[in-house]
Amino acid sequence: MHDAGKIIGGLIIFLALITSPIWYNMASGKADYTPELKYVTTEKQCVMPTEYMRARHMDLLNEWRNAVVRDGIRVHTSHEGRKFNMSLTNTCMDCHSNKTDFCDQCHNYSAVGQPNCWDCHIVPGEVQ
Ligand code: HEC
Ligand code: HEC
Ligand code: HEC
Repeated sequence: MHDAGKIIGGLIIFLALITSPIWYNMASGKADYTPELKYVTTEKQCVMPTEYMRARHMDLLNEWRNAVVRDGIRVHTSHEGRKFNMSLTNTCMDCHSNKTDFCDQCHNYSAVGQPNCWDCHIVPGEVQ
């Protein structure tokens, strides 16, 4: 009988081990969206809160483009009251200067494909 106890104990450990990536992802709340992202900036904050950026950065980029191209407005004030030049190349890619490991990696992971922005906008030199 005590062998059955060992087997059940072993099974529980085995199950815990093979499902641990799932528990880990549930605990960190990231299972549904992201690979490991690498930050090359020493800055701590984005131009909007991280949650907003994660879900809505494409909307923000559209707003920036419309503001610049239609209204000639070029200054974005962040949630922290910091001022940023509304520029994909000079602002976003200044902090996220590892496009391949950051933007591209997440887009590939999310099966978004690559936006066509880089047909016209310059990608500054990559930082690893
Ligand atoms: C001043 C530096 C800085 C600028 C400029 C900046 N970011 Fe960020 N960004 C960060 C930092 C730092 C984080 C991570 C914040 C954190 O850890 O909570 C971040 C987070 C993000 C995220 C969320 C990633 C995740 O963890 O899910 C996205 C998407 C993003 N930025 C895109 C952009 C885009 C697009 C722009 C331009 C509109 C931009 N960033 C401009 C510093 C910057
Ligand atoms: C955390 C993951 C993640 C990161 C990091 C990320 N993106 Fe995205 N991005 C997405 C997702 C998911 C979509 C698609 C959203 C949708 O279709 O609703 C998207 C869509 C976009 C779009 C709109 C695409 C289109 O064809 O309309 C642009 C532009 C864009 N991202 C730019 C960037 C840039 C620039 C960076 C790096 C500074 C970046 N993204 C980083 C996840 C990410
Ligand atoms: C056919 C060429 C072309 C494509 C493709 C394109 N843009 Fe632009 N974009 C421009 C031009 C031209 C301007 C005006 C530049 C200026 O006045 O500073 C501009 C301005 C912008 C601006 C504000 C100023 C700046 O320097 O960043 C943003 C933000 C922007 N575009 C985002 C995007 C995003 C995001 C995409 C992809 C979803 C995209 N653009 C695709 C040509 C393009």
